[in-house]
Amino acid sequence: MNHSSLLTPHSSPIPVIAIDGPSASGKGTVAALVARELGFHYLDSGAIYRVTALAAQHAGIALDDETALAELAGKLNVRFDNGEIWLNGEKVGEAVRTEESGNAASKIASLPRLREALLAFQRSFRKAPGLVADGRDMGSVVFPDATLKIFLTASAGVRAERRYKQLMEKGMRANLARILQDIQQRDARDSARSVAPLQKCADASLLDTDALTIAAAVNEVLRRYQANRPPGVWN
Ligand code: DC
Repeated sequence: MNHSSLLTPHSSPIPVIAIDGPSASGKGTVAALVARELGFHYLDSGAIYRVTALAAQHAGIALDDETALAELAGKLNVRFDNGEIWLNGEKVGEAVRTEESGNAASKIASLPRLREALLAFQRSFRKAPGLVADGRDMGSVVFPDATLKIFLTASAGVRAERRYKQLMEKGMRANLARILQDIQQRDARDSARSVAPLQKCADASLLDTDALTIAAAVNEVLRRYQANRPPGVWN
């Protein structure tokens, strides 16, 4: 009989909670709060695509130049620090939160070689005691061995209203009909692309937030994590 599994300490991999879903579904807010609750690190992978698009614009690279974009992504000088993003030593601020930035990110995100070039950087966020990562392909591609995979969504109308409110609160100009149109176009592009399309993977559990408050969605993710977490992981 082999007793080695009893004698060696249980080495569990660093847990990851992958939260994927369409834009403006609230996954970023929920993911950040879940991370805070558990004391985990947080990866906003959409911000990586957004800041890459911004870096490309600064460097004068066209958003369909796959070779140049992949090269740029491979040597991206980006730092995430306490909710702030730094690009080449400068604070990025709200420049990556605009609808234009989201659209530019969505365009470059359809390029396979660019996605490949960003993989290692995204995986470098997996550090003890754990990670909550949000995006489109966190569960399917970046962290296929995630402890818990959530597909968090809401109807396009509800998402447009949430995004509208968010922009108004930040004092930014916003037009609800335009936002809805943008969201529908972005959903279509993100879902139709050939690499890592936006879709619920088979082992992800669905969380529809149309009728949920943020707090209720956070509690539901925590509940599912507690039910899924491997033995030996304490959080
Ligand atoms: O989550 P977000 O809206 O900040 O993401 C911006 C764009 O980046 C989104 O339209 C699609 C792309 N994206 C992606 O393709 N894969 C990810 N893991 C995250 C974002």
